[in-house]
Amino acid sequence: MSDVKVYDVLPDAAAKAHINDKQYQAMYAHSISDPSDFWAQQARNFITWFKEWDKVQDWDYYTGKTRWFEGAKLNVSYNCLDRHLASRGDQVAIIWEGDDPKVDKKITYRQLYEQVCRFANVLKERGVKKGDRVCIYLPMIPEAAVAMLACARIGAVHSVVFGGFSPESLKDRILDSGCQVVITANEGLRGGRSVPLKANVDKALTSCPGIHTVIVVKHTQHQPTWQTGKDIWYHEEVAKVSTECPAEEMDAEDPLFILYTSGSTGKPKGVLHTSGGYILYTAMTHKYIFDYHDGDIYWCTADVGWVTGHSYIIYGPLANGAVTLMFEGVPTYPDASRFWQVVDKHQVNIFYTAPTAIRALMGKGNALVEQTSRKSLRILGSVGEPINPEAWEWYYHVVGEGRCPIVDTWWQTETGGILITPLPGATPLKPGSATRPFFGVVPAIVNNEGEVLEGEAEGNLVITRSWPSQMRTVFGDHQRFIDTYLKTYPGNYFTGDGARRDKDGYYWITGRVDDVLNVSGHRLGTAEVESALVLHEKVAEAAVVGYPHDIKGQGIYAYVTLMADVQPSEALRKELINLVRSEIGAIATPDIIQWAPGLPKTRSGKIMRRILRKIAANEISNLGDISTLADPGVVDNLIETRSNK
Ligand code: PRX
Repeated sequence: MSDVKVYDVLPDAAAKAHINDKQYQAMYAHSISDPSDFWAQQARNFITWFKEWDKVQDWDYYTGKTRWFEGAKLNVSYNCLDRHLASRGDQVAIIWEGDDPKVDKKITYRQLYEQVCRFANVLKERGVKKGDRVCIYLPMIPEAAVAMLACARIGAVHSVVFGGFSPESLKDRILDSGCQVVITANEGLRGGRSVPLKANVDKALTSCPGIHTVIVVKHTQHQPTWQTGKDIWYHEEVAKVSTECPAEEMDAEDPLFILYTSGSTGKPKGVLHTSGGYILYTAMTHKYIFDYHDGDIYWCTADVGWVTGHSYIIYGPLANGAVTLMFEGVPTYPDASRFWQVVDKHQVNIFYTAPTAIRALMGKGNALVEQTSRKSLRILGSVGEPINPEAWEWYYHVVGEGRCPIVDTWWQTETGGILITPLPGATPLKPGSATRPFFGVVPAIVNNEGEVLEGEAEGNLVITRSWPSQMRTVFGDHQRFIDTYLKTYPGNYFTGDGARRDKDGYYWITGRVDDVLNVSGHRLGTAEVESALVLHEKVAEAAVVGYPHDIKGQGIYAYVTLMADVQPSEALRKELINLVRSEIGAIATPDIIQWAPGLPKTRSGKIMRRILRKIAANEISNLGDISTLADPGVVDNLIETRSNK
């Protein structure tokens, strides 16, 4: 790869940055040679503790015990709010930009503090106590931040469910985490269309007897179906309570939130994050990776339903006293210039989005970008999936006009914060590479036998030691945590990703090596989509794989075997698509359904997905060894009838 372009650190970025390359090297070395000393220093630097820890770290990659700052006391909402009041009570905390470009709102730290205290009091009045789980199913409105921080304030554990998930998915998550309260809105708004959130909650609750309260934000004029006693209006309740609510003293290892994410098998897992290590790591990474300086306007376009929204819209930025922009809408409404219009309107300095959005906007042409100024931009970020060099170059040259470093940040729901990334004032950039590990992070590449590969290498990406914001367990199933992440390569955390390390020690993430899809940066298990398809009475079997998609990164390709005597039809295809949408949500909509009279299986009956992936990607000249198939003729049939859509 000698022809890879290298972009040197921009002089302006280096001059302004908190961390230059020399500092990166020195701090990284310290974080590795004496991690406890390094993290203790950072913990004092970034976080206000009610009481300091007895021990900085205590973890074991065999039993899955992961503890950071044990014995310490803190409150995450106190760190995001109370401690800023004296110095920046009147500074804006959240800029909210509505779906409608004419609608926006600014909320100061003091206002946010009061709203959080009020809502925390409402939760308490409804009987929510420390350790209880609360489900949040809200659109991208400030009340989502208020609800999360109010939970953190009283020690309740929030479980945010993305507003695009179906009632069925919502129900599964409510039941798995044992929530008693749901916080929702009558409706959400996206791209000028309303999303029936309260109606979805009502459907989900037909089989969730544990829910005694639904708190409803009135976001539009729509009057939802109402169940007196259970359903209460947010605005009515917060008006009745005090603007003061003491922050509960929490242990560093007390749970902060559960967030569901897809794996290669079974139902989504409840990833559990705790308080001290998580807030330290998200605050620190937010400051250094986005080179956040006081007064900067920072915008992460993610949804709070995903981990990026948790860590880099809410917790990291607010812990740092930042101005964080929250956007309700979509990049293409009212037109595909919206992102850049919002950048100009609010004078955004730091902009963090996903490659799928960059590719979609790139496809709409440069004029939509060039008609805006974007002079306020200083730093650009990318997250969620590998960014192809072409999209990277467009982002760098057209959006950033060559003035703004791009931080391509690699991380996962499980990691809580960014693990591999450039630092804007320290790291020469290579388009498509997430570059180097953050402080305290030790990645390694192992082959399928688990042998560690040194130097230039390609294989499976593992992390060899714990970092403060690592997930602690799968909620309610610690064995699943061990089996999923710690068993494959004993002694290491297995990411599920493949990666290559080049001669400069830079990491290039090559994508998932397991049966997890990444569709427009959304993570989905192939097994989830298959389970939805086989619910249909006319489906005998289904196998789902990803295939390269120009905009989405990966598309969803479903091979469906029908019951004997059932004829395929356009109507059936639509029924199957609707079934997946209603079981999971629109993000799981199959792009292609191929009718498959048979699936390639080994003699022991295992579906050979490797072959299905090749056929889906149209790499049929290179199918590899098919001699172990029970019936090799199946493959010819699939190739002949392959969809060319
Ligand atoms: O495959 C990697 C990809 O997204 C996965 C994690 O997905 P999720 O838990 O939903 O979190 C997404 C936001 C942090 C990873 O296993 N991924 C994430 N960021 C990158 C990436 N792949 C390549 N480059 C990235 N920067």
